[in-house]
Amino acid sequence: MTSSYGLKGRAAVVTGGTRGIGRAVAGQLAAAGALVCVTARDPDEVRDTAAELGGIGVAGSVADPAHLREVTERALAEFGRLDIVVNNAATNQPYGPLMDVDPDAWRKAFTVNVEAPLRLVQCAWRAWMREHGGSVVNICTEGAGHVGPHVGAYGTSKTALLRLTQQLAGELAPRVRVNSVSPGLVRTEMARFVWEPGESEVAAGLPLGRIGEPEDVARAVVWLVSDAAEWITGADLLVDGGTRVRAACPGGYAVHDRLRSAR
Ligand SMILES: NC(=O)c1ccc[n+]([C@@H]2O[C@H](COP(=O)([O-])OP(=O)(O)OC[C@H]3O[C@@H](n4cnc5c(N)ncnc54)[C@H](OP(=O)(O)O)[C@@H]3O)[C@@H](O)[C@H]2O)c1
Repeated sequence: MTSSYGLKGRAAVVTGGTRGIGRAVAGQLAAAGALVCVTARDPDEVRDTAAELGGIGVAGSVADPAHLREVTERALAEFGRLDIVVNNAATNQPYGPLMDVDPDAWRKAFTVNVEAPLRLVQCAWRAWMREHGGSVVNICTEGAGHVGPHVGAYGTSKTALLRLTQQLAGELAPRVRVNSVSPGLVRTEMARFVWEPGESEVAAGLPLGRIGEPEDVARAVVWLVSDAAEWITGADLLVDGGTRVRAACPGGYAVHDRLRSAR
């Protein structure tokens, strides 16, 4: 299916591309013909993933502006272009009621979840996209549409990322399209504490009857960055198994119970 998306020869950076949603995105971009650069903090996983994809990898934290400049420079040096940026790396910390949150940890959430995507888009814009165009997808969350227990820092920063997506879409048009994908609960390490204790109970509360797989989200990202979505910018694509419309569906919603009881 993805081969019709015409990504052959285009170059992509996927932050947090070594596991979970980012790994699936990087894999599907490569399968669609793109040249892929993955990032993450663990250098062994970066090296292994890059080798699996036939691409390149740069180890480091997106919280470090120098790392983001290096990623851009390496992608351009290796591929000669940088058409696609997927801002996927994120933190769901600090976890807990906001009155207990350390403001320094709160700031770190914004550095990783909001500031880093802006910095990487600035790098890509200055180095390639301003002149040649491109496409950006920011990974937000279905949870940004409402409040939830203990996820105040995560939800607030992801809501800021949603607005950043819209602002950039307006500012960078028509050359660069900027969209977001907002996943519901997906089977990854980050969300394991929510889905693993009694997955069937969580799934029963979702209109489409199962939690998401990383590939569900990756298909949406690949479509959005491709020319098939050439008239779409500033959009947020929910990939959530119907989580937002669950109130019209029989069955309870176990996710908030899990968030409430987790530490
Ligand atoms: N899973 C869900 O249910 C869900 C729902 C809604 C939204 N999302 C969003 O989906 C995205 C991916 O999450 P995921 O669930 O796939 O997480 P994951 O399985 O924990 O994977 C996270 C990836 O990001 C990397 N990473 C983490 N912090 C980083 C940093 N500071 N700098 C660079 N890389 C970093 C990790 O590698 P290292 O640890 O080696 O750095 C890993 O490759 C996130 O934006 C998340 O907010 C997830």
